[in-house]
Amino acid sequence: MAEKITVAIGSDHAGFALKNFLRDTLTEEGYTVIDCGTDSAASCDYPIYAEKTADAIRNHSAELAILCCGTGIGMSMAANKIKGIRAACCSDIFSARFTRLHNDANILCMGARVVGEGLALELAHAFLETGYEGGKHARRVEMMMALENKD
Ligand code: RB5
Repeated sequence: MAEKITVAIGSDHAGFALKNFLRDTLTEEGYTVIDCGTDSAASCDYPIYAEKTADAIRNHSAELAILCCGTGIGMSMAANKIKGIRAACCSDIFSARFTRLHNDANILCMGARVVGEGLALELAHAFLETGYEGGKHARRVEMMMALENKD
């Protein structure tokens, strides 16, 4: 069996239960999962965990990451402020697959108040098991990343 990648995972309080479910299930499936918190259902601020999880991508501890909050939107907005991050908030399988193929997304964000555990796991599988297509998309991804350096 091919070795599975290392995945970082983080959440705020609203995504806490979904994060734990995905962490445990993906671990059982053979992924190495780095849990970047939060560690309880107590109210907390999602940008803290967006940054902690993005750091695992930036320092190459993990190849891809997953972030969960209530909607997935706050996490994706926060993560996309961080250099080198391409976060996609998805609630359908097509988007989760194509954001890897075309955008080389490195973080999948999802909303625990939007998707149930079953769909969340399918989204994670689609994202983690799809490679970047490169080719004509590489120029566009480079252009997108160059926007980080504008004032
Ligand atoms: C927390 O109530 C909620 O605002 C947060 O989890 C997230 O959905 C923000 O985008």
